Amino acid sequence: MRRAIPRRGVRARWGTMGAMDRAADLSVPSPDESLRRELMELAADMAGQVGELVRSAREVGVDVAGVKSTETDVVTQADLAAEHRLRELIAEHRPHDAVLGEEGGTTAGSSGLTWVLDPIDGTVNYLYGLPQYAVSVAVVAGPPEPGAWTQVAGAVVNAADGRTWAAARGLGAWHAGERLRVNAPRPLAQSLVGTGFGYAAELRRQQAGVLAGLLDKVRDVRRAGSCALDLCAVASGQLDAYFERGTHVWDFAAGGLVVREAGGVMTGLRGAPEGPAMSVAGPAATVAELVRLLTDAQADAPL
Ligand code: IPD
Repeated sequence: MRRAIPRRGVRARWGTMGAMDRAADLSVPSPDESLRRELMELAADMAGQVGELVRSAREVGVDVAGVKSTETDVVTQADLAAEHRLRELIAEHRPHDAVLGEEGGTTAGSSGLTWVLDPIDGTVNYLYGLPQYAVSVAVVAGPPEPGAWTQVAGAVVNAADGRTWAAARGLGAWHAGERLRVNAPRPLAQSLVGTGFGYAAELRRQQAGVLAGLLDKVRDVRRAGSCALDLCAVASGQLDAYFERGTHVWDFAAGGLVVREAGGVMTGLRGAPEGPAMSVAGPAATVAELVRLLTDAQADAPL
């Protein structure tokens, strides 16, 4: 397989003592370029390794371990095993870092860096054998509290086929050795827009209303079933833009950096950053137009 990201300068090894010592010393970390690059490589390596675990587990079968917010919001044994393995790898290679994972919650750290994990983004696709489910691994500078941090590096691996997207702050976004660029902005009427829907019926009804008002104002919409992969599609120019209400930080922490490092922007509505209330991503001009429409439609109105 081709390298996901070009490696230069530092030896691409996990948890080199230099990187660990530097991180452990930082109370308010501002990782330098070589550490950011190492963290990007580490994120990509970990996501790739765990993606392979997720893919091969599916060949044996899918075990639903339980449900979360609704009966359709499932967690599989593979979600749990994948997050467990990611946490083992982080403990092994970055023992001082904190972790915030979709399935396992928060583990404190002392380095000032936090790993934000979605072991399988696109769990319903995984359940049904649709080949769009991803392992998303991000590392941020700050405590494990969404909003209190700066994005540092991250990677998204489509576990079904091993395709990898990776980014580090100031170092670009990469896929198959190529630097990524979002599409040049086009009018919304010419834009292909990705979106997704939450698990709760009330939220889905509201999202349907918003979408109904948008459909005649865009080229078309796509719903692939993985926020992380949707964001990588924006960064790769396969979608012009993306919006969704109800996603969580682990869904978009890595993919959001991939979009930004590909020259795009990501935001919420009414000047808020991206978050569960709304996330919009794409080239700045397209996002501005979409934000206007979504704000007018009160797409973030309390349910
Ligand atoms: C889901 C996916 C989906 C999005 C949902 C998310 P999960 O994440 O990202 O595309 O529409 O809002 O919850 O549950 O598969 O990790």
